[in-house]
This record gives sequence, C-alpha cells and structure tokens, in this order.
Amino acid sequence: MFDPGDLAEPIIQAPLAGGPSTPALASAVCEAGGLGFLAAGYKTADGVQEEIEALRGSTSRPFGVNLFVPPKSGVDSSAVHAYRERIATEAERQGADLGEPRSDDDDWERKLELLQQESPAVGSFTFGLPEASVIDALRANAVAVWITVTNADEAVRAREAGADALVVQGVEAGGHRGGFSDDPEESGWGLLALLRVVARRVSLPMIAAGGIADGQAVAAVLCAGASAAQVGTALMLAPEAGTAKAHRELLSKAGPTRLTRAFTGRTARGIVNRFLLEHNEGAPAAYPEIHHITSPLRAAARRRGDPEAINLWAGQAHELAQKLPAGEIVRRLGAEARAALADVDQRLG
Ligand SMILES: Cc1cc2nc3c(=O)[nH]c(=O)nc-3n(C[C@H](O)[C@H](O)[C@H](O)COP(=O)(O)O)c2cc1C
Repeated sequence: MFDPGDLAEPIIQAPLAGGPSTPALASAVCEAGGLGFLAAGYKTADGVQEEIEALRGSTSRPFGVNLFVPPKSGVDSSAVHAYRERIATEAERQGADLGEPRSDDDDWERKLELLQQESPAVGSFTFGLPEASVIDALRANAVAVWITVTNADEAVRAREAGADALVVQGVEAGGHRGGFSDDPEESGWGLLALLRVVARRVSLPMIAAGGIADGQAVAAVLCAGASAAQVGTALMLAPEAGTAKAHRELLSKAGPTRLTRAFTGRTARGIVNRFLLEHNEGAPAAYPEIHHITSPLRAAARRRGDPEAINLWAGQAHELAQKLPAGEIVRRLGAEARAALADVDQRLG
C-alpha cells in the first residue's frame, strides 16, 4: 500500500477541482518526487478516465485520484429558490442564465468503479466518509484510501471505517471545507492544533493541508507529526495548472480571504470579491444546488475576465504562491523545508 512517508519530497499536490487540476500538473509533481493528484469532482467518469490515461502516458510514478462523497441530507428548497431570485441581477450583469438547482451524486458509482478498474496508488475522499465496504473493496485492490478530516471526531470515524491515512485539513485551506458536515463550528480548527489533537487520538499517517505555501510551513507540519504536506494554492500559478487568468492575477497579490457558501452552498475559502461580499450573508447550506445555480454566471465571468463574480478559491497564504513550473515548486518546498529544519536544529543547539 502506498505510504506518503516514502516520497522523495514530502509534498502532495492537492486535488484542485474546477479547472486548476490537470494531468500535466499531476505529472510534473510526480516527476519531481511528490505525489500528483487528479480531481474527479464535477467531471464525468469518462472524463476522469481520459485524464488517468493522459497522466499514465506522461509518468510511471504513483498518483492519486480524489472523489467527492455525495451529500446525504436534503436541502431547504424555499431557501434555495429565494437565493436564486436574489442573484438574478448578477446573472444578468454577466449575460448568463441561472442554472437549475438540481441535486446529483457527481457520478459516484461510476467513479468508484473507475477507481477499482484503474487502481491508482491512492483514492482520496472529501465531503464525507464512504461506507466501510467501499473502503475495504478499494484496499483489497491495492488502492490506499485517504479521508479528509477537519476535526478529531472525523479522524476517529475515518480510522474505524478502515482508512489508510488522513488528510488533515485546517481552516486556512483554500477551496471547500472537506469535512463530513458543513458546520463551521465543527470544522474551524487551525492546522497545527488539529494535527496535534488528531495525532493524540488516532495513529494513522497524517497529510497536512491548509495555508502551506513555502518550505518553512512544510517543516512546521512535519514537526507537528505529518508525513507530508498537501499544497493547493501554492501550485495554482504553475504553468501546468488550469487556473483561470483572472484568478491567477489575484492569487499572488496580498488580499483577504473568507469562508463563504455564496458560490456553491457549501463552505469554501476564497479571495474576497464583490459577489462574496454581496451574497455571503444568509447564503443557504445547499450543495450542490447552489453550485449548479451559480455555475453559468461564474463561467461567464471567467470568460469575460471579471474577477468580481468568480469563486476565487485560495488559502490564507495565497500571496506566497509563485509563478514557477510545478516541479520546481515541489523541489523548492522540499529544499526549503530541509534548510528550515537544519536552521531550527542549530538554533536550539
Ligand atoms: C481551487 C481549489 C480546488 C479544490 N478542489 C478540491 C477537490 O476537488 N478535492 C479536495 O479534496 N480538495 C479540494 N480543494 C482543497 C485542497 O485539497 C486543499 O485542502 C487546499 O488547497 C489546501 O489549502 P491551500 O490551498 O492553502 O494549500 C481545493 C482547493 C482549491 C484552492
């Protein structure tokens, strides 16, 4: 079974659904000694299969595939319709229609079959805990199962269900909170505190995620017990990433981020812009319904290059992101981490 501690560099590329993740990005990370990931979220199973084939055509190293666990609870449809009316003027402004508030499971069963068929080194899951039978079946097929957790109770449940490792996601992280529920009270843990509390309760390898954008931060999470650091935002300016132009322009500048449900109906961290400020308050917890409603207007804003209506997912440390080839970022993070650890060792004598 794949062990994150065996990587030449302690760096794992975060799966980055919605555009930034590409086979080229994953391949560059793998070739540099890290672990690349494909993000299956929002794609069809056939689309993911094509990406796996493209990735296998450019690297023979191990890689991971990440899936969204389907939501279990229903939503308040009157709140969803009220929100749809509220953002109608924004859709007009972008020259786009609003999408329909449908629920779906993101092609869950077919994507699970694909994981069984393709057997990547790692299958990681976000937004929930798959059934223990799903985890057992993947493990029997040599797919290591990693579960994203945002508090210690989730970590305990993931271990009981048979996970091989935990992706411990702090509140600093860019993009969606990956916990089992969408309750900000339960998932507001800072990364260092969460790593230590989880380490005390669960002895599984931990992959640390959230706000890690230089080697000093990589060193910090390794000291806090993580086997490797999972970085997302720090790779989004790489030429291999599919990050939209308007998004790139804001990533490397200093600027505040905030947690919001305004874009998708599920709490996520993004750079503060007009849409977030205008619609954050009272946006309903209704994923993926709100995601589908806002999707056409966000796509139109991306085409028009209007950053004010795009979901500008980014972690708190986004201003540290550098425009460098992904392989170089991975090697730099590793080298900086080693230097930081040597420096601390010397300082402590
Ligand atoms: C644009 C973007 C897309 C993301 N998509 C996914 C995803 O598909 N699956 C997932 O598990 N996490 C996703 N995340 C969260 C990352 O896996 C990771 O937790 C986060 O990037 C770590 O914080 P950082 O961005 O500060 O490095 C996404 C994050 C961003 C910024």
